[in-house]
Amino acid sequence: EKAGFDHFMLKEIYEQPKAYRDTMMGRISDDGRSVVLNEIGMTAEQIRGIRKIQIVACGTAMHAGLVGKTVIESLARIPVETDVASEYRYRSPIITPDTLVIVVSQSGETADTLAALREAKRNGARVMAITNVVGSSVAREADDVIITQAGPEIAVASTKAYTSQLIAFYLFGLFLADTLGTRDADAIAEVVAAMHELPEKVERILTEAPVLKSLAESLAKHNNLFFIGRGVDFAVVQEGSLKLKEISYIHSEAYAAGELKHGTLALIEEGIPVISLISQEDLYEKTLSNIKEVKARGAHVLAVVNEGLEEEVGKSVDELFAIPKTLPLLAPALSVVPLQLLAYYASLARGNDVDKPRNLAKSVTVE
Ligand code: F6R
Repeated sequence: EKAGFDHFMLKEIYEQPKAYRDTMMGRISDDGRSVVLNEIGMTAEQIRGIRKIQIVACGTAMHAGLVGKTVIESLARIPVETDVASEYRYRSPIITPDTLVIVVSQSGETADTLAALREAKRNGARVMAITNVVGSSVAREADDVIITQAGPEIAVASTKAYTSQLIAFYLFGLFLADTLGTRDADAIAEVVAAMHELPEKVERILTEAPVLKSLAESLAKHNNLFFIGRGVDFAVVQEGSLKLKEISYIHSEAYAAGELKHGTLALIEEGIPVISLISQEDLYEKTLSNIKEVKARGAHVLAVVNEGLEEEVGKSVDELFAIPKTLPLLAPALSVVPLQLLAYYASLARGNDVDKPRNLAKSVTVE
């Protein structure tokens, strides 16, 4: 059932190109100039009435929501907050009938996420779910549901479910942009065309797995490390850090690159690995200056960068891994893949039970 792979996690990482295609399938018009989400029951008038969006989820699904915030704000210009479900419920959130609440859950059964959904509905908000399981509690109780077509995810560490959630956010962001007129058909077609290229670009990253394996084997010797990034790269490194902690048991922290000097820099000492993600080219010089700050204090820097930046960034780092270029907004669907593989191979190098990390369950149905 692992189809020749050593672990479900690795199989699921390799299933991502298919998961992207399946999640897009049937949801883009034939001419590629609009997104078709027949599962959304909101009328154009209701969509025009949305004043703010709250994305609520746990763990990896919440990390997808962090990217979702940038995607929706950028494409549709609606203000978005992303919350951890277990916090949202108890902070007396301002939920009004013109709020759209989006819950994100692979399983559709996470207790805190489900409770947040119910709280939102009680307050009169419309609730949309992004979930991987048809007929799950979240899918049944939400007003609108976008099913991610990732297929069953067995490994405790979520991979293809996360990236399929990103695809769902891209589709929904474009759908809003189309309805609200914040992007014209040419602009939508440009994003759609770039989305169609993502699966093949993920495949190209997967062919580099042996490089990531040897990088991960060096990381596995450490007990502490850092991730840094800016913009959506910050969202993605938070997911990379969670993945690494979860299955390799290496402690790591993800920092917005510009925040390092406000405290964390004190922890940088000789030899500590810093994984730096640079997919947002407009911000690359800023992150590069943060890389120089940690290098000057002895950090060992692995930079994951867009193709084309190798030479410029290569001069300032110890190790480099290049990822194919895409539109800045779509970069998370590529840049997370090497981070998933680093976590996988680090876990393997440490002899851990990759698919069933200690203390964790696949679905968290207690609060
Ligand atoms: C981490 C992971 C968890 C889940 C979280 C929410 O790899 O899988 O952080 O993302 O427990 O689960 P769902 O998406 O089922 O609500």
